[in-house]
Amino acid sequence: DKNSYFTGVNITITAGPTQEALDPVRYISNHSSGKMGFALAEVAQKIGANVTLISGPVQLSTPNGVTRLNVTSALEMHQASLSGLKNCDIFIACAAVADYRAETVAEQKMKKQPGIDELTIKLVKNPDIIKDVSNHQNRPFCVAFAAETQHLEVYAKDKLKRKNVDLIAANDVAKNGQGFNSEKNALSVFSSEERFDITLADKKAVASQLLKIISQQYALKNKG
Ligand code: C5P
Repeated sequence: DKNSYFTGVNITITAGPTQEALDPVRYISNHSSGKMGFALAEVAQKIGANVTLISGPVQLSTPNGVTRLNVTSALEMHQASLSGLKNCDIFIACAAVADYRAETVAEQKMKKQPGIDELTIKLVKNPDIIKDVSNHQNRPFCVAFAAETQHLEVYAKDKLKRKNVDLIAANDVAKNGQGFNSEKNALSVFSSEERFDITLADKKAVASQLLKIISQQYALKNKG
């Protein structure tokens, strides 16, 4: 049945932004809406997968039948992602994880200092979640996203190798009306051997096409 090709397959998807606290009332984050990850979760569930959605703070309702784990920071998303790997066949990293977090989070609200016009906050690197997943002993089939503004293919293929993933879904964020915080998306998907292009469409249609590519590549890998 072509509509249930993911029956019994456990898929974990990360989605949305992360928030990195500076103090009890402030944080560093980004404009990710979570829509692409939630669309993937909804479609994957409909085609038979057992879906776990690890979501940063977003304004979206949980798709029917999907198990949702809410997280705030990159460290929490990292922890939730790694602790679920025993039961994961396919991992799709769709979240816009903050690259850095504050080295120390102030316990009290930081006060404006009279006469001091500059403030320096030291940031430290967050773990690369998909890289740690793809190098784990219980390695699932791994898919990462890449947002690029130029040299799409070169950068995407480099990321495929560096992150040790099976597929990379790249979008050209320099083009208007697609990707980040938009209703639509277009993707170029790369494996180490092939390229698949998904033309501009609403995120649910794109999710459905991407999942088809994933299922084919996943089946290929399990055979080989
Ligand atoms: O390296 P870059 O951030 O461009 O890679 C994007 C891909 O890596 C996305 O799939 C994103 O979800 C994932 N990622 C991650 N953990 C990070 C940074 C990015 O899983 N700390």
